[in-house]
Amino acid sequence: MLSSLLLVLHPIIGASQTTLPPILPKPVSMHAEFGGPFEITRDTVLIDPENTEATRIFQAMLIKGSGFQLHKGKQGSSAGAIRFEKAPTGSLHAEGYSLKSGSDGITVLYADSAGALYAVETLRQLLPPAIEGPKASQDAHWSVPAVTIEDYPRFPWRGMHLDVSRHFFPAPYIKKYLDYLTFMKMNVFHWHLVDDGGWRIQLDKYPKLTSMGAWRYGITSGWDQSKLRFDPASKLPKYGGYYTKKEIRDVVKYAAERNITVVPEIEMPGHTMPVFAAYPDLECQNQKPAAQPGQPASNVYCVGNEKTFDFVHNVLDEVMELFPSPWIHIGGDEVDKSYWKACPLCQAKIKAEGLKNEEELQSFFIRHIDHYLASKGRRLIGWDEILEGGLAKGATVMSWRGIDGGIAAAKAGHDVVMSPTSHSYFDYSNASLTTEHVYTFDPVPPALNEEEAKHVLGGQANVWTEWIPTTSRVEFMIFPRITAMSETLWSPKAGRNYEEFMTRMPSIFERLDRLGASYYMPAPRVETNALLFKDSAKIAAVQERWSPGTLRYSLDGKAPTAQSPAYTSPFSLNHAATVTFAFVSKAGQTGETAQVSCAPQRTIPVPTLAPGWNSAYFEGNWSNVPDFSKLTPIKSGATDHISLDGRNRDENFAMHFSGYFKAEQEGVYRFTLGSDDGSWLKVGDLTVVDNDGLHSPSPKAGTIWLPKGIHKIEAGYFQGGGAFSLSLNVQVPGTSTPMSVDSYVYRNANK
Ligand code: ACM
Ligand code: ZN
Repeated sequence: MLSSLLLVLHPIIGASQTTLPPILPKPVSMHAEFGGPFEITRDTVLIDPENTEATRIFQAMLIKGSGFQLHKGKQGSSAGAIRFEKAPTGSLHAEGYSLKSGSDGITVLYADSAGALYAVETLRQLLPPAIEGPKASQDAHWSVPAVTIEDYPRFPWRGMHLDVSRHFFPAPYIKKYLDYLTFMKMNVFHWHLVDDGGWRIQLDKYPKLTSMGAWRYGITSGWDQSKLRFDPASKLPKYGGYYTKKEIRDVVKYAAERNITVVPEIEMPGHTMPVFAAYPDLECQNQKPAAQPGQPASNVYCVGNEKTFDFVHNVLDEVMELFPSPWIHIGGDEVDKSYWKACPLCQAKIKAEGLKNEEELQSFFIRHIDHYLASKGRRLIGWDEILEGGLAKGATVMSWRGIDGGIAAAKAGHDVVMSPTSHSYFDYSNASLTTEHVYTFDPVPPALNEEEAKHVLGGQANVWTEWIPTTSRVEFMIFPRITAMSETLWSPKAGRNYEEFMTRMPSIFERLDRLGASYYMPAPRVETNALLFKDSAKIAAVQERWSPGTLRYSLDGKAPTAQSPAYTSPFSLNHAATVTFAFVSKAGQTGETAQVSCAPQRTIPVPTLAPGWNSAYFEGNWSNVPDFSKLTPIKSGATDHISLDGRNRDENFAMHFSGYFKAEQEGVYRFTLGSDDGSWLKVGDLTVVDNDGLHSPSPKAGTIWLPKGIHKIEAGYFQGGGAFSLSLNVQVPGTSTPMSVDSYVYRNANK
């Protein structure tokens, strides 16, 4: 009642939404107060009777940003102080705090050490971005506006995952990653330490797990599961690394100081290929030989072999000694059960235990591990496949293949963390999983009633690193999407608004600039991708309201930099050019680019025409559309429609289509090119759509301004493996429906 009354009064006391400082994730409640800000100076006193870790972190931040060392003061001492006080037990929510600032000081009441830390993180965002360092000039002002804040998280599990197996990121970087989590008030780090790409945790009992299993040969960036090998005799480039026990203890301590629980993931029974390079006894029997030298035949433990259980117990014992986390993540996902089908030991186990099939064998194994962990006072958490064949008694489910697994588990009374691919897979491209979409995430689905919903501990974003070889790429994939994830897990659901959220982002981007973090900036939208002009071309791009950078352009074909001209309004060009647009951040980072190419229309010799395309067919193994000028076609001919009908085989081929496009009127033509794998489209020698590379069927549109007349048209296509398709539509000026392009295309009748 009191809080809703305050909400009603809020506009009357004169603080409109837009004047509130940009805090992210958004606090439960925040009000601007009358009166001036509090100014932190060299003389400011810090009063913290409990000597919290949080104020130590706060002081380190102040020294980094301002160079100020706060004076420690005593309780009851004068005004002009920053006071941290523990709230009476039960008066604040867990991890919660209240903060009141004004010209005479700042008072923080905190529920627990986590609450004190999150008050510090809020204080950080109340201060100007320069607080992120490096040291600002002597005369910078460290003002904290007058506000009252009440705050606590919506969920107790606010997780970020990092796969360090497919690519390895050293311990100092893990601490930096933890700093980002702290910045976003997240409190679980899910450390994916074991997978087919390498074993990353040092264990005393099994030294070969890291001496052999942490080092692969041949794949140093990018990913190809079929080429994995752990063969020290290999002459291929070596890649890998692991964390020593000392490093792990150090990371766990650093995390604990920041209220972060490190949940280690030790994958089992699948995703364990490196284990078998080191300890081949643990693999199933009767397997097909490996495809590569140094590559184990499988990636699943033999569950019919008692040695597996001894091994797993010993591994978990050392893991539990390193990680105080109440939860131990045991993976459980994507187990290829064909290995168990073929293995006499696994089949004997199924019989002996009276199990129906391999699904029940998986469930038998997970139950066993659940008992084992429970006997040591820990809880098992696993991916939602652990539901198959029956869920172990104490298990917590991490729902990734959508939310249905999480719903089923919560209804059965199990705790759940929601981490569905639809909202939480930050390895997906920014174009396919946008920040705006992440912002719609709600870990509690409507299918759960109030009681069941209590089992939803929260949510988590995952960062699988098959295609993320560097730390800057990690940051590019998590920022800015982590900000949306953070707010969905921390802030109340009511009143959430993406537009308002975006108004708080510039402050975050500026802080990321100062922290040296990479982040994704979308390609600017352009009015047309290409122009075949008569006198001059009008080049136009769209300013975004909440872009982290300045819209800049270049004319040399290279991505714009901080030195490139800023785009302010449409401009004209009367010569052939490729204009590249991008947002460039204050720190000089260049975002995704968008190109506009233009050229003056030339009179082209037009041969005798007949409806349709000239086509040419090529064979070879490519990952991009090949340069057709350097190749000899296997065959060539004519076709009345653009299609792959002229191929001789279903894989490893390319096709080139050429002809003349008849523009019946001048204006903007919109082409949509869909292909699996890659393709491109050129009209009048200008690239209109670039849909190249290995990918699934994904239509891509592009526009070109054309004068009335006959223009050259060309499409290139290649197919690697798997499914294949090609389609091309056009929407002509003044119409709203795409048509097949074929009725506008003519070929050289003499070819
Ligand atoms: C998963 O993405 N395989 C959990
Ligand atoms: Zn087996």
